[in-house]
Amino acid sequence: MRTATIALGAAFLTALAACQPGDAANTVEVDLAGGPRVVAASDIEAGRYIVATSGCNDCHTPMYARTGGAQPPEAEWLKGSPEPHTGPWGTSYGKNLRLTAAANSEDEWVELLSTGSSLPPMPWPSVRNMSDYDKRAIYRYIKSMKGDRGQPAPDPLPAGAAPVAPTD
Ligand code: HEC
Repeated sequence: MRTATIALGAAFLTALAACQPGDAANTVEVDLAGGPRVVAASDIEAGRYIVATSGCNDCHTPMYARTGGAQPPEAEWLKGSPEPHTGPWGTSYGKNLRLTAAANSEDEWVELLSTGSSLPPMPWPSVRNMSDYDKRAIYRYIKSMKGDRGQPAPDPLPAGAAPVAPTD
């Protein structure tokens, strides 16, 4: 019985050794010269992953945060939101990023995300710190989205102006 246990332990250790991080079969070669980046099956998939995990939908897609990501369907993502963000800056609305991407070349998009500054709560410091790879991946994902690009989000309101509550 004791022998069997030892044999099993040895087999387990052998299997564990085969899964070490340095093992070639488990290593993805990534060129980090241009900064870290998300690696996926394609740039579009990487962009989709970044959008889905970096909060863009929370403010740029109506209902998304309130429904735990269940609504609306992906075809509606990033079309801008009428949900108001009110603070000392007045009221801002998550802009329609489908229209922004359509109006800018990929290089202009990278420049916008690298230098952007506007009303809160847009997390510019975080977005500016993304690598150019990831900024390009987001752009390629947005440009790959099919169908109607939707309407512009409402214009921001000055401090003191009462926003109209969204009806959705
Ligand atoms: C907490 C809310 C919030 C999150 C999260 C957020 N945004 Fe925004 N974003 C905004 C708001 C609000 C504006 C509009 C600010 C204004 O009107 O000045 C904006 C504006 C922008 C703009 C400028 C668009 C234009 O046409 O000028 C870009 C680009 C942008 N966001 C990209 C992103 C990306 C990419 C992500 C995800 C990585 C993201 N945002 C996450 C709230 C957010």
